[in-house]
Amino acid sequence: MLIEHTLLPTRLEHVPLAVFAHRQVASCAVAAEVAGLIRARQRQGRTVVLGLATGSTPVSLYAELVRLHREERLSFANVITFNLDEYRGLSADHPRSYGRFMRRHLFDLIDLPETRIHLLDGAVPDAAVDAHCREYEQKIRAAGGIDFQILGIGRNGHIGFNEPGSARASRTRLVALDPLTRQDAAGDFGGEERTPRCAITMGIGTILEARRIVLMAWGWRKAGPVRAAVEGEVTTQAPASFLQDHDQVQFVLDHDAASALTRYRLPWLLGARACQGRTWDQRPIRRVAAPASEIHRP
Ligand code: GLP
Repeated sequence: MLIEHTLLPTRLEHVPLAVFAHRQVASCAVAAEVAGLIRARQRQGRTVVLGLATGSTPVSLYAELVRLHREERLSFANVITFNLDEYRGLSADHPRSYGRFMRRHLFDLIDLPETRIHLLDGAVPDAAVDAHCREYEQKIRAAGGIDFQILGIGRNGHIGFNEPGSARASRTRLVALDPLTRQDAAGDFGGEERTPRCAITMGIGTILEARRIVLMAWGWRKAGPVRAAVEGEVTTQAPASFLQDHDQVQFVLDHDAASALTRYRLPWLLGARACQGRTWDQRPIRRVAAPASEIHRP
């Protein structure tokens, strides 16, 4: 169920949002947009360039795209993909690499031509990293630029692996990972000690050049960074806040990821329209006394 799909309280919100009750439904809505774009380009005999993200967030999106391929004959034959990032030290076939993640959740399950898949190589030798990054940017340009970029958001507000402090103009490059990012990834690597310290990521400048950007976020753990990106100032301390500068961006959220936004925490600040259809026993209102950092699942 779509709860709200509006620009309603725009005084405080600097990006358009779609808020859904459940991540599955939200993912289906994003998949429908992606599928519509792919099919429209097929009718024109053109390719379409997708920028893809990893992490748990897009898993339900990829599952829906696979379902559309299997059950509704969505072909990916005209699709070109570029992934956002990769851990430093991991080749594309390392079991924990984002390359393997993509094959498991999407590439091996659809008819995307192998030659159209572009992944960053985390295992490229030190001396070749800069050239590898420049070449990746060059390949994006040669493909005509990214038409549709999927993003998740880290708990520190990162996009790709652009950690707090990343510049707006940053391009594809080698970066050091924030301690919080490594902590969040530690489960996948069997402990923080074994978690990579660096990664290669598309830059914020690279991401902002995409023609359309959809950032997805699920769960209360993302409520704080989502609020900072949507309602806060544009700052290097919240890299996702740079998306406010993009005119075709949308945040697609589930209810919990949206729960720290003023429209749910303090709806009366936004005037009568924001309170319409809500009653005092609904969750957003009950949460009003809790600071964003203390919002927990009921
Ligand atoms: C990693 C990825 C990001 C992703 C983030 C959130 O750091 N580099 O692209 O958005 O994790 O991950 P999750 O979706 O698992 O919360």
